Amino acid sequence: MPETIIKLENISKSYSQGGSLIPVIENLNATIQEGKFIAVIGPSGSGKSTLLNVIGLIDTADSGDIFLFNENLKNINDAKQNLIRRDKIGFVYQSNNLFSDFTAIENVTIPRILLGDNKKDAHELAFKCLDILGLSDRINHLPKDLSGGEQQRVAIARAIINEPKVIIADEPTGNLDKNTSNDVFEYLIDFVYSQKITLIMATHNLELASKSDHQIKLV
Ligand SMILES: Nc1ncnc2c1ncn2[C@@H]1O[C@H](COP(=O)(O)OP(=O)(O)OP(=O)(O)O)[C@@H](O)[C@H]1O
Ligand SMILES: [Mg+2]
Repeated sequence: MPETIIKLENISKSYSQGGSLIPVIENLNATIQEGKFIAVIGPSGSGKSTLLNVIGLIDTADSGDIFLFNENLKNINDAKQNLIRRDKIGFVYQSNNLFSDFTAIENVTIPRILLGDNKKDAHELAFKCLDILGLSDRINHLPKDLSGGEQQRVAIARAIINEPKVIIADEPTGNLDKNTSNDVFEYLIDFVYSQKITLIMATHNLELASKSDHQIKLV
């Protein structure tokens, strides 16, 4: 029986706009298990990014309980939340946010350098990650010299270099054409399944969502 690593109990979240409260997520419950692919689907504005930000400790819910790795978030102080975000969660976004003046391998190295690794170790690890993503012959390219799909694969390599338990991906293929989307997704899903990483991915692409183990549908 796979381990439950994230549990959401009655999560609600509203935004205040012009003096009134706009509910975005209402009483959401979900159980997310280790090594599974969870697709977050729903129309634009339904709260997919909001939910990912709450799970990724970038934003907070207004009410409800979140259990991360068996601990209630309410009992995890800010310092520990920062460590969880850094060490256990990898993020991939629709636009890759790569540093334009840095090569592919330098971009992937950055999280390890920030952790205090020396350059050589970080470089070796970054190469391994880029190799997993099929980019061993593109490591010295600047982002502008890579295709959109290759740039997203670099962004995924950067997200996996700290060996996260969970990857949170917000429309990671949203800017790509159909074939490139499938290609990038295949790299991502092969890696997460092989490493028992949990993938929580918001997507408008129902074909990709249909491959998930579980769907969270927002309305
Ligand atoms: N900081 C904010 N302040 C006020 N309202 C916000 C804020 N962030 C998001 N919203 C609103 O919350 C709702 C949900 O936004 P969210 O970005 O989560 O939707 P989404 O499902 O990710 O949409 P998309 O598919 O377009 O990415 C939207 O109506 C949005 O306008
Ligand atoms: Mg969104």
